[in-house]
Amino acid sequence: MFSLDQFVADLRTTLGERSRQAMKEVVARAVSDPSSVVAALGAPDRPGVKVLHKAPDLTVISLAWSPMQVTLPHDHRMRAVIGMYGGREDNTFWRRMPDGARFPIEPAGGEALGTGDVTLLGADIVHSVINPLGKISAAIHVYDGPFLTAKRSMWDPETLHEEPYDVNVVARGTPLLQG
Ligand SMILES: [Fe+2]
Repeated sequence: MFSLDQFVADLRTTLGERSRQAMKEVVARAVSDPSSVVAALGAPDRPGVKVLHKAPDLTVISLAWSPMQVTLPHDHRMRAVIGMYGGREDNTFWRRMPDGARFPIEPAGGEALGTGDVTLLGADIVHSVINPLGKISAAIHVYDGPFLTAKRSMWDPETLHEEPYDVNVVARGTPLLQG
């Protein structure tokens, strides 16, 4: 059975080992049994961010995407592991372009994630996310830093210019839930 306390303890062990691959494996183990995650965290029945653990070196959130939700491109400036425990998430990865290019960033690949899938994102990754389903999709996101207060960037959807990150703009309709 999934236990949040044990999960955080296992993640902390991987921080000590300085292995992000090990961190990915801890998340993979958790979402390999999605119903056990739902039993512990509750069914993701409304969109929002639930903070499960918050520390300067480790942030764990549960993110429930609205049906058909689209985020702006954004960065994290710390490594991230995403593990899906419900629905789907399509990631687009963006690369920075040289001065003078049509846009400052452009798409450079992507990754489709489904329930039980896990991905590890490097600290300099710029990505945007789509929930392609007409229902809520849910994921555990783990960051090896102070994700909720970190200074970082988002990119305007029309000009693709880099701007200071504003959670209210990046993920419209994704309120911070209690708990
Ligand atoms: Fe992200």
